[in-house]
Amino acid sequence: MNQQREKFSSRLGFILISAGCAIGLGNVWKFPYITGQYGGAAFVLIYILFLILLGIPILVAELSVGRASQKSVAMSMDILEPKGTKWHYFKYFAMAGNYLLMMFYTSVAGWMLYYFIKMASGGFVGLDKDSVAGIFGSMLQSPGLMAGFMIAVVLIGFGICSRGLQKGVEKITKVMMLLLLLLMVILAVRSIFLEGGEEGLRFYLTPNFSALKENGILQVLFAALGQAFFTLSIGMGAIAIFGSYIDRSRSLTGEGIFITILDTMVALMAGLIIFPACFAYGISPDAGPSLIFITLPNVFNAMPGGRLWGTLFFLFMCFAALSTVIAVFENIISFGTDLTNASRKKVVAINLVAIIILSLPCVLGFNLLSGIQPLGAGSSVLDLEDFIVSNNILPLGSVVYVLFCTWKIGWGWDNFMAEANSGKGLKFPRFIRLYVQWLLPLIVLFVFVMGYKSLFFS
Ligand code: PFF
Repeated sequence: MNQQREKFSSRLGFILISAGCAIGLGNVWKFPYITGQYGGAAFVLIYILFLILLGIPILVAELSVGRASQKSVAMSMDILEPKGTKWHYFKYFAMAGNYLLMMFYTSVAGWMLYYFIKMASGGFVGLDKDSVAGIFGSMLQSPGLMAGFMIAVVLIGFGICSRGLQKGVEKITKVMMLLLLLLMVILAVRSIFLEGGEEGLRFYLTPNFSALKENGILQVLFAALGQAFFTLSIGMGAIAIFGSYIDRSRSLTGEGIFITILDTMVALMAGLIIFPACFAYGISPDAGPSLIFITLPNVFNAMPGGRLWGTLFFLFMCFAALSTVIAVFENIISFGTDLTNASRKKVVAINLVAIIILSLPCVLGFNLLSGIQPLGAGSSVLDLEDFIVSNNILPLGSVVYVLFCTWKIGWGWDNFMAEANSGKGLKFPRFIRLYVQWLLPLIVLFVFVMGYKSLFFS
């Protein structure tokens, strides 16, 4: 079976698709609004620290497990674990996480698609601030509209995946990512020079640690942890799958750092686009999930050629979202092909229907089911699904990956090092073994437990 596994056609393909999996709504939608809610630059600093100290080693661990096993998370631990151990039970947790992520991600990707079409057709032309906000509100009130766009996203995603790894996933994602990176730079430059935007830059770039106190430092740490893991896609095998599609010509630490740098650049640029705009147009940066949908159409309205820029912007937001959807669908498809003998086409057909149905609670959570407020007043099904994935499955799953790679009763340090370090490029430093084996998991668990405590018991 192993010989038949399709591989990426090039290293660039691997990097851009892994970056495509990492770069997504987490960067362009979540990062700005969470940063806005938790007080700006001080939050960004903690987030970056978590990326470096925790994210990169975990990312390398995941890629190594994927490459060594040549399987998705649905089978990887069965292959690598010492006989008689139970690590493979992790697959159920990880697989559930991938589905749960898609249960809300497809809806938000659908919002992007809707905004792209609305922008392109001139739907925002001449609207004032309140009317722009009104469009977002009325979209949330229309279950049919939202479901339609969610279904479109699912169809496009699986449509591309059904064409195979090289001809579908790699070919399309590569182009989308290159265009996205280019446009982000152009828009960031455009936004920085907006009149009245300096205040936004200050909010975004000058740390104000009293904002941390206001929000409760533990909650801020918890949010930063969730966001760091979410943005890198670590903790449930979404990145591991791409490790299984490459050969051993490059060592994995360098690749991991490269992916992290690309991902971080896009998140930071998204902030550069959005915060100056917020302050220039008097929109509070702590608006939450609606942030980019109520700020940016205003920015484009006030810009010469704004309709064109706006259309391009939302088109590329669709690319960012879609590249992640495609990546996670590819992972989900490989669960099916790894666990059963079913063909790719059959697995696609089954999952297409399953994910549409599973995504409905999120869509309906904003309208017909808006009475369900699982995380307190004003929260929605989306918030709950996001919380379960970002603040639970990803941190805990990441700990499992790290322990699996470093503990003797798991796959073990030597195997991990041999895999991570085979090939040309940067090597995983041996001297950080004790840190990775003990301290890193303890930091994650500490922030996790304390975050829970401060969120629910204070
Ligand atoms: N990293 C993706 C984003 O920033 O949008 C989201 C994500 C994908 C999270 C895959 C987790 C995952 F396993």
